[in-house]
Amino acid sequence: MCGIVGYTGGREACPVLLDGLKRLEYRGYDSAGIAVFNDGRVAVHKAAGKLSVLASALDGVQLGGSIGIGHTRWATHGRPSDENAHPHVDCSGEIVVVHNGIIENYLSLKEDLVARGHRFTSETDTEVVAHLVEEAYDGDLAEAVRQAILRLDGSFALAVMCRHEPNLLVAARRHSPLVVGVGSNENFIASDVPAFLAYTKRVHFIEDDTVAVINRTSVEFRGLDGRPIVNNVHEVEWDAAMAERGGYEHFMLKEIHEQPVALRETMRGRLSSEHADVALEGLGLSDEDIRSIDKIVIVACGTAYHAAMAGKYMIERLVRLPVELDVASELRYRDPIIDDRTLALVISQSGETADTLAGLREARRRGARVLAVCNVVGSSVARESGGVLYTYAGPEIAVASTKAYTTQLMVLALIALHFGRVRGALTPDRDADLRRMLWTIPEQADLFLADYGDLIDCAERYHNIGGFLYMGRGPNLASALEGALKIKEIAYIHAEGYAAGEMKHGPIAMIDPTMATVAVSTKGRTYEKVLSNILEVKARMGEVIAVAGRHDEEIAKYADHIIRVPETDELLSPILNALPLQLLAYHVAKFRGHEIDQPRNLAKSVTVE
Ligand code: F6R
Repeated sequence: MCGIVGYTGGREACPVLLDGLKRLEYRGYDSAGIAVFNDGRVAVHKAAGKLSVLASALDGVQLGGSIGIGHTRWATHGRPSDENAHPHVDCSGEIVVVHNGIIENYLSLKEDLVARGHRFTSETDTEVVAHLVEEAYDGDLAEAVRQAILRLDGSFALAVMCRHEPNLLVAARRHSPLVVGVGSNENFIASDVPAFLAYTKRVHFIEDDTVAVINRTSVEFRGLDGRPIVNNVHEVEWDAAMAERGGYEHFMLKEIHEQPVALRETMRGRLSSEHADVALEGLGLSDEDIRSIDKIVIVACGTAYHAAMAGKYMIERLVRLPVELDVASELRYRDPIIDDRTLALVISQSGETADTLAGLREARRRGARVLAVCNVVGSSVARESGGVLYTYAGPEIAVASTKAYTTQLMVLALIALHFGRVRGALTPDRDADLRRMLWTIPEQADLFLADYGDLIDCAERYHNIGGFLYMGRGPNLASALEGALKIKEIAYIHAEGYAAGEMKHGPIAMIDPTMATVAVSTKGRTYEKVLSNILEVKARMGEVIAVAGRHDEEIAKYADHIIRVPETDELLSPILNALPLQLLAYHVAKFRGHEIDQPRNLAKSVTVE
């Protein structure tokens, strides 16, 4: 997730671009850049670090010019650095490109382009676009962009300028957001409306595979076949703060709703629609390495630790390798048995959590190979690991983690499938079944998020309850722990996450009418057992909210409230079960009137021990 902007009109471009980027910083903030036309030349300025670094560098610089493009980056390919910051240029420096998305086939495109003599100056996937446009350019930038995108696989929102057509901006999109703002004698391009809301509320929302041709007085749209497309202007009602959160009241709610897209992005290029093999670029382990591992130790904290717990079930069942779990703050002090046949799997959204980093270093010191699952390119965890599989969730702004968790689960499922296949532990049928189900998870997440009114009623009913007990079994023990953590973090209600079978060994003493139990009741190996555990709670006058499958009729005989989620394999179900648990916590906290995005006593990234 990055932010792109473009401007053409009567104002000086630089301040408009910087202002737009500031409002898109929630989409990425590891580097930024702008390109502005003036006096027949294109001036490109870019810098690693937050936008403020670029803004300070430009302070007092008279760029002039009233047309330009800009970018705020959240790295996916290539670490955050000046060279990898956008805009990127072609060999001549005359074509300038900013991009949000992932070009899946960039390596093969780059090889071809290099073979034809193109010189690359960055490690990004984006730079291939500048060179493809350069090759296709014959005096018509819009046509060159159209031809270039015909060769791209993956996702992109692009803004492109060319020195030979100084009044023109060309934009295009596929699977990444892009809007065009229409002003009076000025027009805007952006990843999202807040970038230009201070100037206009009139917006074209652009469909996939559209090319937009923009100058200061007109905007035209073309399809991939070059034919004109009609696209009507909409008037948006949001104020600036609301728009930054995409119309959602809080970043947490926005991020919950971003999960289908984040899951798709995380799957992209790794699992194909034909459900063939899993491709894990960046894994850093050959098939031989995978076969030589005799144990996996997972190191993580908090929500990432809960993802690790579900990952343990996936890997043990599908790969038949023993998996040990450690909260990172424990691993470093418990003298773990780790050697060169151990794979340390380190999971971290930020990649900067001090305990997790210390655990990583401890595992390495003992000879383990290290594979990271991380959301921040170039972070310490990513840099210090032998291999990295990124979760392409984009920046997570709300302190309570949501989309990072589900994308971590997605990556863990991909690892389990790949390792299971390499080690011959998965039958081809089971392998194919799981791939098919994994592929439909983002769609199922969309389906759930489209309608969850009952859940809000449930949150209203319980928002003043004395406490919550979350119970689950198998991979959904992780769901129970994560559900309880979410409610503690933002609703400040005491909650316990428990293995349902453990209830009778103690926690059941807590059950009375002031305690609600959330039972994650997914069909699977232990479904009947969870039903018995629910009966134990009911027998003690406890109220039960069940998270259960859409078509589960049995559960209605047991629970007081049922939140229904689309069905999938039990091993993958923690991904979908996370959605209602996150939303329950969100709405309970909202009914209690809490500050949701920045809960008390918590920081987004814990960089101290
Ligand atoms: C909970 C939460 C934390 C983090 C934990 C690890 O909502 O966000 O529990 O999961 O601090 O952070 P990362 O994943 O950045 O290492």
